[in-house]
Amino acid sequence: MTIKLAILPGDGIGPEIIHQSLRVIDVLGRQGLSIETETAPVGGAGYDASGDPLPEATLALCESADAILFGAVGGPQYDTLPRAQRPEQGLLRLRKHFDLYANLRPAIVYPELAHASTLKTEVVAGLDILIVRELTGDIYFGQPRGIHTNADGLREGFDTMRYNEAEIRRIAITAFEAARKRGGRVCSVDKANVLETTQLWRDVVTETHADFADVELSHMYVDNAAMQLVRNPKQFDVIVTGNMFGDILSDAASMLTGSIGMLPSASINQKAFGMYEPIHGSAPDIAGKGLANPLASFLSLAMLLRYSVGQAEAADRIEAAVRQVLAQGLRTADIAEQGKPVVGLEAMGDAVVSALTAGA
Ligand code: IPM
Ligand code: MG
Repeated sequence: MTIKLAILPGDGIGPEIIHQSLRVIDVLGRQGLSIETETAPVGGAGYDASGDPLPEATLALCESADAILFGAVGGPQYDTLPRAQRPEQGLLRLRKHFDLYANLRPAIVYPELAHASTLKTEVVAGLDILIVRELTGDIYFGQPRGIHTNADGLREGFDTMRYNEAEIRRIAITAFEAARKRGGRVCSVDKANVLETTQLWRDVVTETHADFADVELSHMYVDNAAMQLVRNPKQFDVIVTGNMFGDILSDAASMLTGSIGMLPSASINQKAFGMYEPIHGSAPDIAGKGLANPLASFLSLAMLLRYSVGQAEAADRIEAAVRQVLAQGLRTADIAEQGKPVVGLEAMGDAVVSALTAGA
């Protein structure tokens, strides 16, 4: 069985981190895992190639693949385009098209990197949380939306926060099932004191919990959750929340780990088809300079192997190789301690490739 991957490098540092991930895929190939890759443009690169952030050929490639490995999209040169042509639309349309509703964003503090967090080491050391973010609903996709001129002649912008109970139930199930394999606790984050949508969220999560009595469920308002994440993040095991709150909380959680350059993510549908990407963006300021941290992309590849193609053992080996290079002391700039030596993208890639090769 050959695994077929659609590779979408995108913009900014996307292509260079994906290039390193392709090297990792080569090693896996030499070790007997049959993986076929095909690359296609998305985001700004898609717009440049064919005027569309999600070109038809790119979508067709994804349709024919077993999973998608995604780099990053966006760049200042695209910020003034009409919304439909902006790079982010490529990403949002892929999420919607494949119904990738379950977004898993683990935030793990590797022992060697606890110092890299801006928070006190004792607050973050040993942290291991999983944010389960709903990814295809909420105010991101709700209709109606727009900017119009109202009856008073004033321009008015509006978006619609909406969730139906089926959308809430399925992501709650994802979170409860994930908790069963971890610490057994789910904290559902909402704003039920103010918003109707999230009152329904709380009701449906509570109803769904009836089938998961072995999992402990708590609820928290999003403002408090933001505070608790920086006050005492280790109180959490699994956090489940909607699209908008999850976007914000997962960036905050990433910084607990020291660098957003370390965090992978999985976006999965009911059939376990998925798209895998680092949660960092395209970082246009360092693009092309060989400074980016490729580890989040390697860890995203590991998630892909584990969740979409049933290759947990290969995933373990990639994660072990990443841990090994961190233990050896290799640091890209984003995770380096002040005054300590720093390596670039390529050297970090080399180190993981050797560790993986040796570990076989
Ligand atoms: C993320 C990103 C995206 C989002 C952007 C690029 C559209 O911030 O994956 O968290 O808002 O979902
Ligand atoms: Mg985000």
